Amino acid sequence: MRIIVHKAKCQGHARCWAHAPDIFMLDDEGYILPGDVEVAEGDELLASRSARSCPERALEIDPT
Ligand code: F3S
Repeated sequence: MRIIVHKAKCQGHARCWAHAPDIFMLDDEGYILPGDVEVAEGDELLASRSARSCPERALEIDPT
């Protein structure tokens, strides 16, 4: 499973990081770092819940 990061949509709400600080990395200004996130086995539920918490829909879940 992978989370596709739409960096341009990020407004720095940091909800993703608040839910899963080990999965989502922010820059010094609180915006998500560019680049898709490969989710480790066992972290899928946490990662998908965290991605869905983004109010800007900047994090797209790719289940493949
Ligand atoms: Fe950005 Fe959404 Fe996270 S706005 S910091 S991707 S909660």
